[in-house]
Amino acid sequence: MSKKVILVTGGFGRVGYSLCKNLLAQGFKVILVDKTIKNIDKSRFRESDYYILKADINKEREIKRIISFGLKKFKKIDALVHCAYPKTKDWGTKLENLKQKSLNENLSNHLGSSIIISKNILKVFLKQNYGKLILLSSVMGIKNPKFETYKGTHMYSPVEYSAVKSGIISITKYLAKYYSKKNININCVSPGGIKQNLPKRFIKNYKKHCNLKGLLDPEDVVETINFLLSDNSKFISGQNIVIDDGYSL
Ligand SMILES: NC(=O)c1ccc[n+]([C@@H]2O[C@H](COP(=O)([O-])OP(=O)(O)OC[C@H]3O[C@@H](n4cnc5c(N)ncnc54)[C@H](O)[C@@H]3O)[C@@H](O)[C@H]2O)c1
Repeated sequence: MSKKVILVTGGFGRVGYSLCKNLLAQGFKVILVDKTIKNIDKSRFRESDYYILKADINKEREIKRIISFGLKKFKKIDALVHCAYPKTKDWGTKLENLKQKSLNENLSNHLGSSIIISKNILKVFLKQNYGKLILLSSVMGIKNPKFETYKGTHMYSPVEYSAVKSGIISITKYLAKYYSKKNININCVSPGGIKQNLPKRFIKNYKKHCNLKGLLDPEDVVETINFLLSDNSKFISGQNIVIDDGYSL
């Protein structure tokens, strides 16, 4: 799979950065896109193997800019993995206090930009006669939150997150059918909760619903993305792969 060119949005996030490091270690060329730029461990990777672009994927002109940049530098883009996680400042507001403006913004930025970025990269894949698109959904796209796991914490899973994530599964299936026969694979992955700075009580409550591990490491998700990027998944399209250590069972 070496020398494939992969565009990763949200490349400095938990999933995105773990994916970029993994792809570079495998010998891929990576275009890492994020709204917030951080430092990359330059000693570990060859500078000619990656580009870091600051861009806001909620703006279509910026999406077009990063795609043109990738095509100019590498002459092709083999795959796009959309890991960006746009959210408003008041993200996580309880349903009772949800403001319409904030709701509209989150739907439009997270679900809307997933559609717009897909539209733009699929144009490239159609021209190339191949390509792989991987979108990020969540267990919340297939199941209701287990509200009892948040008890005694400040945490909350907003209704708009469930709406966005089930929407992403829908658009994955729609686009895969729309462009069937075009040698393009379009899939999404639905992780369970991923480790971060979370209250101990939540971690314990959450684990009760899982098989063995509980919250995942980003690397657990990256393994499945790798499979979807590989030639071993040639005949998989329009699918949602759940990686959640049994949480949704
Ligand atoms: N973290 C979890 O527990 C979890 C669980 C299930 C699914 N997911 C999904 O996985 C995906 C990645 O999640 P994560 O945990 O890595 O998120 P994260 O918050 O760690 O990273 C997201 C990245 O996206 C970038 N970003 C946000 N808005 C952007 C914009 N407008 N333009 C460009 N970049 C932007 C941020 O700067 C950040 O680096 C998301 O779709 C998320 O919903 C996450």
